[in-house]
Amino acid sequence: MQITSVDGLGAEITDVDIKSLSDAEFQSIQEAFAEHGVIFFRSQDTSEDDHITFAERFGDININRFFAAHPEYPQIALVAKEPDQKDNIGGGWHTDHSYDHEPALGSVLVARELPESGGDTMFASMYKAYETLPDELKEKVDGLNALHSGKHIFGEGPDSYYNTSDAGSHDDGTNRIGNSDAAEKLTDPEHPIVITHPLSGKKALYVNPAFTREVVGLDKAESDELLSDLYTHVFTGHDFHHRFKWEPGSIAMWDNRSTWHWALNDYQGQRRIMHRITIEGCPLEA
Ligand code: SIN
Repeated sequence: MQITSVDGLGAEITDVDIKSLSDAEFQSIQEAFAEHGVIFFRSQDTSEDDHITFAERFGDININRFFAAHPEYPQIALVAKEPDQKDNIGGGWHTDHSYDHEPALGSVLVARELPESGGDTMFASMYKAYETLPDELKEKVDGLNALHSGKHIFGEGPDSYYNTSDAGSHDDGTNRIGNSDAAEKLTDPEHPIVITHPLSGKKALYVNPAFTREVVGLDKAESDELLSDLYTHVFTGHDFHHRFKWEPGSIAMWDNRSTWHWALNDYQGQRRIMHRITIEGCPLEA
């Protein structure tokens, strides 16, 4: 097995079959995941059961409250876009589950049906975002918390930044996200703006444009300005971005605490079906 860093962030893991990992190989994969934030595999021939078995080695599976589930495997959330849908799921920079008190560790995304072209996923490193933050911004965010929510995305009248699914156009519901009842039950958490990553011990910037609502203790204008400065730093931080091109058999596994991702929506009229398993995380500390 070989682990090779890729441009921007992440590592590609080659000469490996995720169906038959030794304990030593799995440990190296876990270490690469903590260090690089996202790991990529190619040419994996995996069934749904293999996907579940691999994900379960990292922790308990989070059953998604807002995405349609695979009809036979509730552990697998469908990230799907049909040819007649304009919008996609995850079509803006975000990290998953920051609206939870114990944000999910990460997700394992398996490509099942890809468009002929397009449909890449962008990743950004929140370790590097923090490291490269100007000192003035580092001082400003020191000790601050931010409030996160998913209600505006998954509840009534979803915000188009993230929830871009064209709900209603498919009777089988495979493309829908959102669940008003579950969204109402969310009790919006506060998380530190800079966290100490629970696996690597490194500092990471932990706000994101989809789910972070405000900086606690600042008035709206100050909060909006600070978040906008932080987001601009990440949007323009091309040195710590990576664009992942999917191929049949590709798998990406990202860490929600140290990365953002963005599913590009540049394949109109084509189908893209991905299977996502999300793994439970833990409370986050400064
Ligand atoms: C997601 O945001 O989970 C979807 C990522 C992708 O489809 O590439």
